Amino acid sequence: MDALSLIPVPDAIPVHWFWLHLLLTLTTFLHFVAMNIMLGTGFIAFSSPFWRSSEIMPLNAHIARTLPYSIAFTINLGVAPLLFLQVLYGQFLYTSSILMAVYWLSIVGLLIITYYAAYVYRLIDDRGGMGRLYIGAAVLLLFVVSFLFSNNVSIMQMPEVWTRYFSDRTGWLLNFSDPALIPRYLHFIASAVAIGGLAIALYFEIRKRRGATDGEAWIKLGCKWFTVATIINFGFGFWFLGALPAAAYNAATLGGKIFFILVVGSVVTIIPSMVSAQTGRIIPAAAWALVTVLLMTLARDILRLTYLKPYFSLAELPYVPQYSPFIVFLLAFVGAGFLVGWMLKTVWNTKEVA
Ligand code: HEM
Repeated sequence: MDALSLIPVPDAIPVHWFWLHLLLTLTTFLHFVAMNIMLGTGFIAFSSPFWRSSEIMPLNAHIARTLPYSIAFTINLGVAPLLFLQVLYGQFLYTSSILMAVYWLSIVGLLIITYYAAYVYRLIDDRGGMGRLYIGAAVLLLFVVSFLFSNNVSIMQMPEVWTRYFSDRTGWLLNFSDPALIPRYLHFIASAVAIGGLAIALYFEIRKRRGATDGEAWIKLGCKWFTVATIINFGFGFWFLGALPAAAYNAATLGGKIFFILVVGSVVTIIPSMVSAQTGRIIPAAAWALVTVLLMTLARDILRLTYLKPYFSLAELPYVPQYSPFIVFLLAFVGAGFLVGWMLKTVWNTKEVA
């Protein structure tokens, strides 16, 4: 069967696709930053005690306090890209979500259990014995959720695998036929560990600038996690690149050229980030790392367009202009941004007093 005939007809969009894509990229970037902090700090809290035993507990107490916040931010910052993705690529995303429906719907339950585990980890005193069980469960479930997201993105951008529905209609489809799935997933996980480490360093650097004296060891430890995970991630990154279809970086196409420039750009920006982290300049290290995550997010967008090129281009979307709801949305978006900024500042200052 021709995969093209399986793709539903897209709905009309109310503003030019460029604006919707800009917001998709921006909100996906924010989702990734929060997700990296959540997953990375959780993983570090779980694994560090295995070789640093109880001396790590003061750091883990900080991570335990902040984890429910980073989970909440990741989930809420996931909703916005989900909406924009549905508007622009709904005909692909709805289909892939149905093909893996059982896993897809299970994410809600998995996240509820994760939340409980993170809250118990925060509330109990025992972060060595039982505590390790709770943080381990939370991190494991987050790894599973990440894998399900990578899987959905993979099915969504490969309509040629949708025909597998006709031999298995149960909603249990995982796309192991995509050679890029595993390296893509591992690339995300290693990135999360790296950014998680850097987030720990940044958190204690800000506290230090406000007069705290207890963070020097954690700044160094965070930078070490960042550097080691990033070096490992070069390996996953090259594996991922090697598993992509040749069209992804074909210099004869505009998409291939832009993808190549973005990948080279992200390698170029991660180097000053690592050098800064190793020399104790945490703020520039964090700034360069954010630029890298942004470039990678953009590269991912271009990659999706390349995958979908045989089936679809954004310019084909029916366009019926109706700008006023979009303007109201933008105003609400900016207002909510200020409100969340104020909330974060208030929470941070309350913690400082406590
Ligand atoms: C809290 C646990 C979560 C984790 C660990 C997580 C992790 C991830 C990962 C690893 C990806 C990248 C997949 C890939 O490209 O291979 C991703 C993408 C995405 N996530 Fe999440 N996510 C979480 C929660 C959510 C929630 C609750 C939503 C929505 C309500 C969401 C919305 C999205 C969307 C829309 C994308 C795709 C963005 C795009 O392709 O442009 N995420 N997530």
